[in-house]
Amino acid sequence: MFTDDQKVYTTPWGTQLHGDSLELLKGLEDESIDLIVTSPPFALQRKKAYGNEEQEAYVDWLAQFGEAAKRVLKDTGSLVIDIGNAYRKGSPTRSLYPYRVLLKFVDELEYHLAEEFFWYNPAKLPSPLEWVNKRRIRVKDAVNTVWWFSKTEWPQADVNRVLQPYSKNMEKLLKDPEKYYKTSLRPSEHDISKHFGNDNGGAIPSNLLQISNTESNTNYLRLCRELEIKSHPARFPNDLPKFFIEFLTSPGDVVVDIFSGSNTTGMVAEQLGRKWYSFELNRDYAALSIMRFLPSMPAKAALSLYERARRKTVSLPSEARGLIPIAIQSAEKEFRLAEKELHAAGVQREKEFEHVRAIEHRAEMERVDPVDNSSDIIAALQRAGEEAALAMARQSVAMKRIKTQAKALATARAAAAALDSFYGPAGVEVPDGHLG
Ligand SMILES: C[S@@+](CC[C@H](N)C(=O)[O-])C[C@H]1O[C@@H](n2cnc3c(N)ncnc32)[C@H](O)[C@@H]1O
Repeated sequence: MFTDDQKVYTTPWGTQLHGDSLELLKGLEDESIDLIVTSPPFALQRKKAYGNEEQEAYVDWLAQFGEAAKRVLKDTGSLVIDIGNAYRKGSPTRSLYPYRVLLKFVDELEYHLAEEFFWYNPAKLPSPLEWVNKRRIRVKDAVNTVWWFSKTEWPQADVNRVLQPYSKNMEKLLKDPEKYYKTSLRPSEHDISKHFGNDNGGAIPSNLLQISNTESNTNYLRLCRELEIKSHPARFPNDLPKFFIEFLTSPGDVVVDIFSGSNTTGMVAEQLGRKWYSFELNRDYAALSIMRFLPSMPAKAALSLYERARRKTVSLPSEARGLIPIAIQSAEKEFRLAEKELHAAGVQREKEFEHVRAIEHRAEMERVDPVDNSSDIIAALQRAGEEAALAMARQSVAMKRIKTQAKALATARAAAAALDSFYGPAGVEVPDGHLG
């Protein structure tokens, strides 16, 4: 159903593909997908004009994907679209395009709006600066709209899979319901004490999802930093797709992201045991997202897999596992080299200091005035002092290097175990087989 050229990498549960999603969606069978969860490119970055006409063009553009998505969704399937809000250019008034998308999808594509969600990101920076910070006439825009569309009125959904921890007060109430609510009938004749006293395993979440987009130490970012490769600029946090995947699908179901960027969705689906397909137009972004699937992988080995994924299909985790012995060997070699360097730097430093001490001794014996700049001995002492300082600096560089190499070696040695815990031990097949 997909060509080798379209496949960037495969994992036990999924496939990252590159190309235009409109084309790639054709590779999926009718009514085969349980959930499409995605964050399309930002409307106002796509075109230069900013009027209503431009908004309509964006909505029409996105609607083509909505139409194609409908064919592949099961009757119980859902389409979840995270769509950021925006101001109209040069004006402190809002663009209506998230709502135009909503109306178009419901009125014309005949999706159902199962429920609207709002993703509240408390860490969002104030913008636009002009209206919020400078003129102070608008407040911080901290929510994205997330439209949960369904193909029928009865999409698969189970709140029990996304229960949240009870509040402290609720926990107290559950321990001793009688103390908190005297059994009494409300005007509605609804007996609240019985109802609220039940422990349902957690609280029902609301449609306001509070998730900070502040990840900084994921494997993806660690490798991008170490390799000095620019990470994808518009990633959503893991917890956003995680909520909808858990809420709207069961283990073994199929999840698709049609604008996958750094493939947050695929990685979360993999960890939750859902099959996945991710589509991304830009092959470099698609290839770079392989970093999400290389836990504890040494940077050099990860780089070689990324470079390979830019040209051909990489099969995970076998190709990653194959690189680990080489990565450990090379890290051990680098570590031994760093050890030698540190030792040599220590010896050199000792030698330079001995030299300084010898000249100092001579100066003392010859009773040379320490501030006599015309004395050859004082000049030699200065030079020896400078050499000693240099040797100390070299030793501290060597110390830093050995620390880095020790860390790299520990990372390489941990990689096999990290891959096992991410994918399961080598040789164990995924139930239901492989996608592809
Ligand atoms: C907002 S980003 C998605 C980021 C993603 N949610 C993540 O967490 O990394 C949108 C992505 O859609 C991709 N894109 C744009 N047009 C596309 C198309 N026609 N088909 C597939 N991908 C497309 C862009 O290259 C971009 O990486």
